[in-house]
Amino acid sequence: MNYNIALLKGDGIGPEIVDSAVEVLKKIGEKFGHTFNFTPYLIGGCAIDATGEPLPEETVKGCLASDSVLLGAVGGPKWDTLPGNKRPEKALLGIRAALELFTNLRPAKLYPALKDASPLRADIVERGFDLVIVRELTGGIYFGERGKREGKYGEEAYDTEAYSRMEIERIGKVAFETAMKRNKKLISIDKANVLETSRLWREVMHKMSEEYPEVEYSDMLVDNAAMQLVRNPQQFDVVVTSNMFGDILSDEASQITGSIGMLASASLGYNKCGMYEPIHGSAPDIAGQNKANPIATILSAAMMLRYSFDLGAEADCIEKAVDKVLEAGYRTADLLGGEGTALSCTEITEKILEMI
Ligand code: IPM
Ligand code: MG
Repeated sequence: MNYNIALLKGDGIGPEIVDSAVEVLKKIGEKFGHTFNFTPYLIGGCAIDATGEPLPEETVKGCLASDSVLLGAVGGPKWDTLPGNKRPEKALLGIRAALELFTNLRPAKLYPALKDASPLRADIVERGFDLVIVRELTGGIYFGERGKREGKYGEEAYDTEAYSRMEIERIGKVAFETAMKRNKKLISIDKANVLETSRLWREVMHKMSEEYPEVEYSDMLVDNAAMQLVRNPQQFDVVVTSNMFGDILSDEASQITGSIGMLASASLGYNKCGMYEPIHGSAPDIAGQNKANPIATILSAAMMLRYSFDLGAEADCIEKAVDKVLEAGYRTADLLGGEGTALSCTEITEKILEMI
């Protein structure tokens, strides 16, 4: 088969890690007889520099016309002082909205080979964990009304969170279906003791749980969830939550796996065209030095094969290659904590290619 992939390399380490994933996809293409065509488009800071806009129209059109999108990372200190709607991050929200990618799947599992990289106590890590965060991605406070106004204490800024029943239902459906395909266990995370949006969220989730009697369903307050994630991550399997809570908890979940450089994500909407990206940022401090860990992006490419192209065996092949490279003891700097020899971004990519 022939697949057209839009590449949004972005800023910082974005180009390096996307190049690694492209090499891996090319190798998979050779092995399994597929052709992947790659078309690069500008997004984020590099787009601002070239066109004045973080998300040029051409990029949106290109992504809409492609079979799937692979993204590196956006942002950097150079663009940090721009106003909110001109910042590179705005492009990320814009492309998620333009493609209607309301679902964000963020799996976090502990690789046995990386146990020592986890900041958790050995007896907690020993039991392993494997969870997936289903984060709502096109609603909530990220997209609510915002601005500045005169308040009780003078100038104030505000952001608002709104969730419609429809938005909660559609993400809920994805979460319950995901739970059905895994261990039939779902925890919905909210702040229903304070927020009205969370109370509606909880009401809708409860109602949906009646349609999925096989799924063991429960709710958890987000502050408790933040604590439980480090106390006993094994209790989580599928987690569903709002845009902002999902943003925060997925960074926490990634760190307990050992490194944020390992976590892939898939952003999905109503059709097969998804956007795949590592959950980490553009790491400007190590950009251009060939030091970045490309694994999260490579695993994101595997998710693309699985979710957008239904190429499960090909996705497994990438995931197994990553497993083998880690089992063999190869590490990038982020996974070493200062000890041992670090492989560069291109070196670890080579190792993964060899295992495919
Ligand atoms: C993420 C990132 C983005 C988000 C930023 C860069 C806008 O943190 O994908 O988790 O908050 O969604
Ligand atoms: Mg984030």
